[in-house]
Amino acid sequence: MKIQLWREILEPYALAVEELQVKFNHIMMAYRRAGQYSPIEQVTGRVKRISSILEKAQRKGIDIDNISGKIEDIAGVRIICQFVEDIYKVVELIKKRKDMTIKSEKDYIACKKDSGYRSYHIIVRYSVETVNGPMTIPVEIQIRTLAMNFWATVEHSLQYKYKENMPERVRERLHKSAEAIIVLDQEMSSVRDEIMDAQNSFHIKAMMISDILNNIQNLYKVANKREVIKIQDEFFRIYKTEDLEQLERFSKELDIIAEGYQAQSLR
Ligand code: GTP
Ligand code: MG
Repeated sequence: MKIQLWREILEPYALAVEELQVKFNHIMMAYRRAGQYSPIEQVTGRVKRISSILEKAQRKGIDIDNISGKIEDIAGVRIICQFVEDIYKVVELIKKRKDMTIKSEKDYIACKKDSGYRSYHIIVRYSVETVNGPMTIPVEIQIRTLAMNFWATVEHSLQYKYKENMPERVRERLHKSAEAIIVLDQEMSSVRDEIMDAQNSFHIKAMMISDILNNIQNLYKVANKREVIKIQDEFFRIYKTEDLEQLERFSKELDIIAEGYQAQSLR
């Protein structure tokens, strides 16, 4: 098949990957903007390389003209979470969505692979609008923790290096480190509440400061400069005390001042 034809075939897959990345990133941002903990930590995606598609088609005896129906991971999205619990939350989120339907799922966390690999896999059917009309294609979504992702990345590169001939001692060490990753994930889960609290207050503070700076910046346009400088000095003073309650009070007062100016300018 000509390269140009491949481009055409892969186009909707590339679109699906892009769209889904935007959507999952949006979920992450929505949680964070609301000052809440996001079960999604990071989103990546890729379209399978032509060489990998050909290799897989050959390995599985798939007719090259029928790859679209038979290879389900041409479009791939990976969602990285901080905690194992988050993975199942993301699975629920996906199941509730109307813009994708679940074709199949594999829980390699409850039931890890012989290699030691752990991840949650979902194949969804997702529709994209192409120049030739709508097209529904399969997308493989892999959901895993940061730690699982770390292990899978290392194991993948070792697999790539050794192909079928991975030395027994390397395999052994990979198994050992897979066990360590399980313990690490469990350890993280046990301090989850504390970590989430810390992240939450960090986010709340970051958002409050961004609000304050925004307000001060806008005040520069409408208010008396000397007054704004006074407000700014007051902000720096409170900021240095690291007292979140004081900062919150200041932020609210500033909101009222800013609203006052806005009301004036609307008159
Ligand atoms: P494939 O023919 O590889 O697609 O296998 P499959 O159709 O049985 O699907 P499976 O769910 O086993 O694997 C799909 C994808 O998960 C692979 O393409 C890899 O990205 C990943 N994966 C599965 N097993 C392993 C593993 O042992 N190590 C690593 N690093 N990744 C794996
Ligand atoms: Mg697969």
